[in-house]
Amino acid sequence: MKVDKSRQMLDEASRYLAGGVASSLRAAMKPTPLYAAGGRGARVYDVDGNEYVDYLLAYGPLILGHSHPALNERVNQAMQKGYTFGLQHEGEIELAKRLTELLPCADKVVFSGSGTEAVMMALRLARAYTGKQKVVRFHGHYHGWSDAIFTSFPSPDMKSKAAGSDSGEAVPGTGGQSENSLDDIILLPWNEPELLERTLRDRREEIAAVITEPVMCNSGCISPQKGYLENMRKLTEQLGIVLIFDEVITGFRLGLGGAHERFGIVPDLMTMGKALAGGIALSAVAGKHDIMNLVAEGRVDHLGTLNGNTVSTAAAMAVLDELGKDDGAAYARMEKIAETLAEGLRNLMQKYNIQGIVNQPGPVFHMMFTDQPEVVHFDQFGRRDAAKYSRFAELMLAEGVLIRPNGLWYVSIVHGEREIADTLKAVESVFSKYPEFSA
Ligand SMILES: Cc1ncc(COP(=O)(O)O)c(C=O)c1O
Repeated sequence: MKVDKSRQMLDEASRYLAGGVASSLRAAMKPTPLYAAGGRGARVYDVDGNEYVDYLLAYGPLILGHSHPALNERVNQAMQKGYTFGLQHEGEIELAKRLTELLPCADKVVFSGSGTEAVMMALRLARAYTGKQKVVRFHGHYHGWSDAIFTSFPSPDMKSKAAGSDSGEAVPGTGGQSENSLDDIILLPWNEPELLERTLRDRREEIAAVITEPVMCNSGCISPQKGYLENMRKLTEQLGIVLIFDEVITGFRLGLGGAHERFGIVPDLMTMGKALAGGIALSAVAGKHDIMNLVAEGRVDHLGTLNGNTVSTAAAMAVLDELGKDDGAAYARMEKIAETLAEGLRNLMQKYNIQGIVNQPGPVFHMMFTDQPEVVHFDQFGRRDAAKYSRFAELMLAEGVLIRPNGLWYVSIVHGEREIADTLKAVESVFSKYPEFSA
């Protein structure tokens, strides 16, 4: 596979763009970070003329695939009238209203630009509402890169870390992060109900919020144990703690009403981003009247020059319209595609005697190489063979399939039978050519 042009462009970019890429994560792609020439439907093309079936989907947002005609049309229409005004416009009302109709937890919403900002806002609302400071977050979850929440994962074995202290140490995730920024974070292992209950009860006077991904998409697509989120909901309610579901990945992906509708659990606040506007920058926080009204009362500031611009609200309306068509048929299709792919991947691993797991909670799934019988905790996820998988992702590129080097796959409404067939053929080709993957 030729990637000469991508390599050349990275060289050139590195002269002007710090790190050569626009977000640190993108530097990890091997053999080199690719330069896109364009995308159509479920396929993306690079500047060397390679075509890929795309499961990266821009790290999740492209739930309609690339260049979806309905989205293009709405965005183009909106742009003709002006992109952003610093004044109010009808699109904001239309989208806010739609979100309150679709999301069980949403009495009101606020708009922002990225998932990171939505999380910042949700934490601010929770602290202002409760008058408390601490926030419980979980090992293996990702909530964006703001100083207030970004932590590294120094030890995958959360249980040993937790031994004396009941909680892990939240260590700043990057150089330059304020040393004190995580003083208010209590880091717990996820899916451990007793430890959560003990911590919440013991420290109820200090804890403003619990923030959780409803499915641990960022580390293995691990689903909540039976009753875990229900119990989290019950406890937080009882103890005067705000429950925040970070649905930046699961929102509009596990269903139009997000994971919380699917699971039948209503959090106090929800963050969303990624799929919401199908690839145009837009995020939001939704929640209950009494918390969201802090904004109306002027007790919590919510700012952002480009918040709710016409392009982003038009894009989101197009996405929600497409996803909502035919009574949610798009979800049934995406689920089926993801299930078939996951099953196909499992079968091929078995056929080639490769030890691995696919955790597939919906149209997002995680494939990993591991000798463990299951991955239902973050410490198990930490024991997968990440280097082997990254090599697999590299080899898949040469077979015409773009997957994230960390194992997470996204499916869109335009992935179909042809993509499944091409993908499984590519996987079989890699497994049969490279015996290094076999046990
Ligand atoms: C669950 C979750 N929350 C928040 C974020 C941050 O979103 P953004 O990258 O748009 O800032 C992400 C990004 O991957 C995420 O997965």
